[in-house]
Amino acid sequence: MKRSILVTGGAGFIGSHLVRRLVARYPDYRIVNFDKLTYAGNPANLRDTEGAPNYAFERGDVCDVEAVRAVFRRYDIDGVIHLAAESHVDRSIRDPFTFARTNVLGTLTLLQAAKEHWNGAWEGKRFHHVSTDEVYGALGAGDAPFSETTPYDPHSPYSASKASSDHFVQAFHDTYGMPTIITNCSNNYGPYQFPEKLIPLFINNIRISRRLPVYGRGENVRDWLYVEDHARALDLVFHEGRAGETYNIGGDDERRNIDLVRLLVRTVDRQLGRSEGASEHLIDFVADRAGHDLRYAIDATKIREELGWRPSLRFEEGIERTVRWYLANQAWMDAIVDGTYERYYDSMYGGK
Ligand code: NAD
Ligand code: TYD
Repeated sequence: MKRSILVTGGAGFIGSHLVRRLVARYPDYRIVNFDKLTYAGNPANLRDTEGAPNYAFERGDVCDVEAVRAVFRRYDIDGVIHLAAESHVDRSIRDPFTFARTNVLGTLTLLQAAKEHWNGAWEGKRFHHVSTDEVYGALGAGDAPFSETTPYDPHSPYSASKASSDHFVQAFHDTYGMPTIITNCSNNYGPYQFPEKLIPLFINNIRISRRLPVYGRGENVRDWLYVEDHARALDLVFHEGRAGETYNIGGDDERRNIDLVRLLVRTVDRQLGRSEGASEHLIDFVADRAGHDLRYAIDATKIREELGWRPSLRFEEGIERTVRWYLANQAWMDAIVDGTYERYYDSMYGGK
């Protein structure tokens, strides 16, 4: 079936992997990437996809109702995969309003535009919201991992905004019958992640021998998933998941931050030809993040049993690949650090 899919936030980290996958796998579809290009959006993430006949880029804000309506009309959108969001917990602590605006009101704006455009003809339509496991709150060391029935208990402004947007998505299903799907995924890592997040930030810092600020004692635990495995799960759930359902996605690969940081140090040192662990002295325990959730972990039984998805990479292998990618793509990182990546759009599209 020929489809016209709106991917929001496709110039970001996960969105760019998803767009690349959909454009390559579905030549008959039209993939429309709608992205505001905030500081986190980088069209260079999709340099290899620009020019594909089934790909279109539209710069716009998910909160701009007229711009969103116009995209639905212009491309006659029948599927939405919504990733556009403010995504960094530390920024949400400093500036919660921007998170409420983009993540809550932006999601509601998209839902409303989809409802208007589809006008009750739900057959063949789909609204897929890409969310996070952080909505479930924090686990203690011995607790069972989050499942789809774990009650929501968000703590940070980021997770509160994502929880709120999930509730609006579910409300559009329950109230109007919109065929929605929500996926809640654990921490992602891999190429093209903005270097405010732990893994790319620390890989770059180790490379240039800058200190590694580990919050608290580094005892917090995250469940890590390679980003291409997430993109594969999103593709699968979008096509085969059941409307009105939630699916948890996770790597089944829990690590304490300090163990992860030591692995990064060893891997970067080795790949750069330094003696392994030579950069350990860069580790610097700093003040903890406010409200820092102790542990996240996902029980991915539902997506595995219903749809046959499982992660393809173990963490050590994924980290090996990820470090190799960042070290081979220093120009990508340097353009972010010096700010020139923000001019890429103008050079591509003539500074609209
Ligand atoms: P990111 O910060 O790398 O990218 C976000 C993208 O959204 C950017 O391209 C940005 O320009 C765009 N955007 C931001 N505000 C916008 C607006 N108002 N209108 C249009 N576009 C806007 O984020 P990411 O890490 O790729 O995360 C993508 C989605 O996946 C988010 O919804 C996030 O909550 C969710 N998620 C992320 C992770 C993770 O580990 N990174 C895990 C689970 C879920
Ligand atoms: P992050 O990549 O920001 O993802 P999230 O907060 O969504 O889990 O952080 C991952 C973990 O690493 C988290 O426990 C916070 C910690 N962290 C540090 O210790 N130092 C840092 O500089 C950053 C950015 C994160």
